[in-house]
Amino acid sequence: MVDVDLTVTINGISYPNPLIVASGPSTLNPKAIMKCFENNAGGVVTKTITYDPMQQLQPKPRMYLIGKRELFAGKLYSFYSVDLMSEYEPERWVKFIRDVKREMSRRGIRGGLIASIAGRSYEEWGKLAGMMEDAGADAIEINLSCPHIEGEELMGRAVASRPEAIRNVIKAVKENSSLPVIGKLTPHGANPLELAKIMVSAGVDSLVSTARFQGLVIDAEKLCVVSWGGYGGYGGPWQLPISLSWTAKIVSENLGVPVIGSGGISSGEDIARFILVGADATQCCTAIMLRGHEAISKMISELKDWMNKHGFSKISDFRGMILSKIIKLEDLNRRRIYRFLVTDKCTGCGICVKVCPYHAIDLSPLGKAEINMRRCDNCGLCSSLCPSEAITYALRETKAKQASP
Ligand SMILES: Cc1cc2nc3c(=O)[nH]c(=O)nc-3n(C[C@H](O)[C@H](O)[C@H](O)COP(=O)(O)O)c2cc1C
Repeated sequence: MVDVDLTVTINGISYPNPLIVASGPSTLNPKAIMKCFENNAGGVVTKTITYDPMQQLQPKPRMYLIGKRELFAGKLYSFYSVDLMSEYEPERWVKFIRDVKREMSRRGIRGGLIASIAGRSYEEWGKLAGMMEDAGADAIEINLSCPHIEGEELMGRAVASRPEAIRNVIKAVKENSSLPVIGKLTPHGANPLELAKIMVSAGVDSLVSTARFQGLVIDAEKLCVVSWGGYGGYGGPWQLPISLSWTAKIVSENLGVPVIGSGGISSGEDIARFILVGADATQCCTAIMLRGHEAISKMISELKDWMNKHGFSKISDFRGMILSKIIKLEDLNRRRIYRFLVTDKCTGCGICVKVCPYHAIDLSPLGKAEINMRRCDNCGLCSSLCPSEAITYALRETKAKQASP
């Protein structure tokens, strides 16, 4: 096994690996933050620091897992929660950050410590930024993404639809601190690519793509909203392809700042997926919270194994590798014809017969699926649904003329 170099550099800060623990319950106090570093986190973002008393007091209960069995089986699950911001006053966080930095230096632990902040006014954004710099944080993350915040507030996703407010928040933060500023994008109710452009033009030094959505989970038996009873943040591994697509689009736009991929990561391969679309590093919250801090070391070791398997010795060997392979719909040759073939594995369950939108499949007298090639549209639904993986396909021919758009 080759020894791989996982180091990444973002805005001049060196991270020993590309897994940054995102702001959340796994980073809520110095003990939790140290646990992240002890488990080899490349960096840690503090729970969001604010003076807002409404944000400091948590609804109870507020955490609700949908798909317990799936979580433990490594399959898709959803996590629904209204975890607001940190309960500790910013002055307390100044001491926390100093303590963590001192402890890291005493123990020779490398890694970036990022302070997540949220102000109620531009002055407060500026004040918090200055305090975090004095405390010794390596960078500042601005929380313009929290899914629970709506209305006229100046924090969380409430700001995402107000470009002027975004610019003023970033201005206030930049004027009061010389630290790199990371803009965290909401995927929700706004076009993250447009948000990214606004944030970059206003001066952020890097971006996180993306935070979670808001959802509403209803218990139809008890006729109520689950957990604390209201709207909640909604995320999980199913979000990964959505965040990947925004990350790929933002990276492709060459905005000139590093992009940190986030949203739905639960394995080393997921970290690799974000880097393959050009992310410089990644952030992960839910999977670490649900599996414990040990999940950090596990994902890093999975990433190393994956790199070894593919012969990559450093992150830059594969960063952005997939981007040139993403086909634009207008460039796709839509005249290609595939041959769908039912193999011996067919059990005659008839699912493909029921779902084929073109009525191109019947069961033969022997009880096996048979595809009528003249009716088949090559859509692939049968093959993707077949429980016994009995339907395969291969390219047959390309018609000379490209379909008109
Ligand atoms: C319970 C919980 C609490 C969170 N608290 C914060 C927070 O205080 N500040 C923040 O910026 N993001 C917060 N987040 C969002 C995460 O940092 C992260 O952006 C989001 O969950 C997407 O990543 P994931 O799919 O790896 O969880 C929280 C997420 C969860 C699930």
